[in-house]
Amino acid sequence: MLRIVLIGLGNVGKAFVKVLLAKAGELAKLGYEPCVVGALASRGGVVGDGCLSNKLLAELADKGLYGATEVRSIELGDLISLNPDVAVVAIPPSYRTGEPNLSMYRELVRNRVSVVTADKTGLALAYQELVGEARARGVYLGFTATVMAGTPALPLLRGLRGRSIDSITGVLNATSNYVLTLVEGGLPMIDAVKRAVEEKIAEPDPSIDLGGLDAAAKAVIMANTVGLPVSLRNVEVQSLLNLNEAYIRDAVRRGVRVKQVASIDLAKGRVSVKPMEVPAGGVLGSVSGNYNTLIIRLRDGNEITLIGPTGPAGATAEVMFSDLLEYVELRLMMGKG
Ligand SMILES: NC(=O)c1ccc[n+]([C@@H]2O[C@H](COP(=O)([O-])OP(=O)(O)OC[C@H]3O[C@@H](n4cnc5c(N)ncnc54)[C@H](OP(=O)(O)O)[C@@H]3O)[C@@H](O)[C@H]2O)c1
Repeated sequence: MLRIVLIGLGNVGKAFVKVLLAKAGELAKLGYEPCVVGALASRGGVVGDGCLSNKLLAELADKGLYGATEVRSIELGDLISLNPDVAVVAIPPSYRTGEPNLSMYRELVRNRVSVVTADKTGLALAYQELVGEARARGVYLGFTATVMAGTPALPLLRGLRGRSIDSITGVLNATSNYVLTLVEGGLPMIDAVKRAVEEKIAEPDPSIDLGGLDAAAKAVIMANTVGLPVSLRNVEVQSLLNLNEAYIRDAVRRGVRVKQVASIDLAKGRVSVKPMEVPAGGVLGSVSGNYNTLIIRLRDGNEITLIGPTGPAGATAEVMFSDLLEYVELRLMMGKG
């Protein structure tokens, strides 16, 4: 049996419950029947006498915590006292203070609860600490969903450890792509941002996407994955929101496009996210819609390019399930089954 607690039941959390219900058999085949023992959102949660029923889980997937059940005033400590194997975390980011996200990860890891997360905050601010603590305590940290969500960027980068990488460059924020494309088409920046929020493409606080923090957090996680120990606080971040609209449109006439480009320079140990001009027909210039792209330059002169979709929530949830499968496989390999 695999004892799971759910933390965050918004778009991704609900989608994860759907995936878990649909794919429970894959875990069962490995000898780990999933058992959700509790769930928590920001205003309380639910704990079961044993596993939550499939009926309640289906309601959670459909309506979220508040619509599905009477919520009790519980906290993270109450979930930890249920002795879970793994916490599946899908809470909003908190890059400015790091809280309550960072304290939550620290408490889970300290109590030897493994984590699968879609939230970038902890790793963006304290990758070395959290991964170090997890290793010291034999705890799994799965965070594949934090970068390019629907496209496995981090497994690719893990596969390149030990190779000499010079740099990684990417367009990592789909909301910025969307807004810049609207501005290129003639919409004022303020209206483009408003439309992105109305269409739920941007977060209610669009500065996280357009200001560059989201892409910077992803770049930090990638940099650490390939051995550059940086934190979000060390990234040079320039917002798109200060750009002149005429400049964005003029760039198109000159055969280039302005994109929010994340750069990791492994030799200089530098990470940045800035608006940059890139060739319109190139890999970075032609990425659009829900797609992100990465160019990995190796020291031998070769390049590896990855282009693929980021979310939406359903794909993100499937990636989290894939981390859960990896966790179980590692347990089996380590003989902890
Ligand atoms: N959407 C995607 O495809 C995608 C892709 C990759 C990564 N992500 C990341 O996934 C995370 C979740 O995204 P989302 O779209 O599902 O967000 P969301 O719809 O806003 O849902 C957030 C959930 O977290 C809960 N929550 C907030 N603070 C909490 C706390 N302190 N303790 C426990 N629960 C808390 C909220 O509860 P209340 O309802 O009570 O506030 C809500 O249930 C974000 O970090 C996002 O960046 C999303």
